[in-house]
Amino acid sequence: MRLVFLGPPGSGKGTQASLLEERLGLCQISTGDILRQAVADGTPLGREAKACMDKGALVPDRVVIGIVRDKLASGDCEKGFVLDGFPRTPGQAEALDAIMHDFPASIDRVVAFQVDEEALVTRLSGRRTCEECQAMFHQTLSPPRAEGVCDRCGGRLVQRNDDREEVIRERLAVYEESTRPLLKFYADRGQLIRLPAGGPVEDVHAALKTAVGL
Ligand code: AP5
Repeated sequence: MRLVFLGPPGSGKGTQASLLEERLGLCQISTGDILRQAVADGTPLGREAKACMDKGALVPDRVVIGIVRDKLASGDCEKGFVLDGFPRTPGQAEALDAIMHDFPASIDRVVAFQVDEEALVTRLSGRRTCEECQAMFHQTLSPPRAEGVCDRCGGRLVQRNDDREEVIRERLAVYEESTRPLLKFYADRGQLIRLPAGGPVEDVHAALKTAVGL
């Protein structure tokens, strides 16, 4: 199964993609995670991406398109994949069509995660991420056993640079302007599923599996 996850920041794309990877073996391809790793490694790609990410802007299309093309060409997603956070612009959507043209199968479903804006801000402003293994927690919604310490690996929990409230608002505005138009693009093709995603993680996971036929 090959899925695309669309949705505003904090709507749970990464959480659900990671569950599908863990439980069903679908490969999670998160452009945000790949870019954050490049920033942490101090690569030329990371240096170019950091300035955009820190202010909540999108990284240029040519950069993220190259990342996705390389990942899909690597052949390590045999059981299928979830594109988590890509495409995000009309240019990226066209590039994905071109990439899939050379691929043995097509995108099955495009899932649009739907969550109220205030809930998004609450989720993101309280999110804490492990510096070592990238596991995600929330200060109040899913707190770690010991404050500031990852349950999974003992690493330090930090706040992402772009999870400060003023940057969250900018990311939401960028989503409205650049990414929301893709909902119509995929709806017109009959590929879009709108998924109410404001409930608990396991409820959303169950609804997602039913919606896409997994
Ligand atoms: P990216 O990392 O993709 O961030 P995002 O889309 O803003 O998404 P988030 O990771 O913030 O949210 P999410 O929807 O995955 O929710 P999550 O599961 O994490 O991108 C970051 C930056 O990279 C961009 O701003 C841009 O600069 C750049 N970038 C990335 N891709 C790009 C592209 N294609 N083009 C250009 N630039 C690109 O959950 C959020 C929180 O909510 C967590 O704390 C989680 O525990 C909690 N939570 C999740 N689900 C639930 C639930 N059901 N109930 C309660 N809490 C929940």
